[in-house]
Amino acid sequence: MHARPEQRPVIVIGGGGHAKVLISTLRAMGRTVTAAFDDDTSRHGEQLLGVTIAGSIASAAARYPQADAVIGIGSPTVRQLLAERLPFRWIQVVHPHAYVDPSVVMNPGVVVMAGAVVQPETVLGQHCIVNTSASVDHDGNIGEYVNISPGVHLSGNVTVGDAATIGIGASVLQGITIGAGTVVGGGAAVIRDLPSQVVAVGCPARVIRSLESKVA
Ligand SMILES: CC(C)(COP(=O)(O)OP(=O)(O)OC[C@H]1O[C@@H](n2cnc3c(N)ncnc32)[C@H](O)[C@@H]1OP(=O)(O)O)[C@@H](O)C(=O)NCCC(=O)NCCS
Repeated sequence: MHARPEQRPVIVIGGGGHAKVLISTLRAMGRTVTAAFDDDTSRHGEQLLGVTIAGSIASAAARYPQADAVIGIGSPTVRQLLAERLPFRWIQVVHPHAYVDPSVVMNPGVVVMAGAVVQPETVLGQHCIVNTSASVDHDGNIGEYVNISPGVHLSGNVTVGDAATIGIGASVLQGITIGAGTVVGGGAAVIRDLPSQVVAVGCPARVIRSLESKVA
């Protein structure tokens, strides 16, 4: 007999702080975490909240090719690489103390941590993170692999391009567009659109450098 989807054990890809919070969140959802996997060999055999870091990420794919899994690594580019290469069934993780409006469009691999709020008709792209106590107001358009850090507030109608990172505690005014791959510094106040692939910091947020590759 097959286990119901919500009863299948889960593996966590990654063994750092974000993975630890994910394990706690999965348990709060009533899920059992079988093992974590990380490419830092010095950590193999360590415990993360009682879950063993059991080996490399490639070994997880060999051992549990059909597993329910979630990526516990913050970097959007690393998450994208892993999601595209690994064979797992990417589950959605929503802490029971988060609020996600029923009209929100949820994609595979989305993670919503404790205290987060996601308001109506927002779209959460695959493998994006809405971290602890962050809020995404109505009609948000959050791209794939986006990392919304703890305590971020996005007003209504904000668009965040794929693989962008919004640093801890930043605020974004209504209707703003943040380009793909852009990094917004912690505590920033974003009051104007930001292009793709830049770092922007401060109140109001200003671009301090480009992230475009300098290779011709
Ligand atoms: C924006 C950020 C990515 C920049 O990192 P960086 O490229 O290494 O930048 P540096 O530390 O070299 O700083 C460059 C300049 O920007 C300033 N700066 C950096 N981060 C800033 C911030 N969040 N707010 C205001 N100014 C900032 C620095 O003071 C420095 O100014 P100076 O040139 O006048 O001395 C980083 O500082 C940051 O805010 N990260 C967010 C991390 C986060 O939210 N983590 C959550 C994990 S869950």
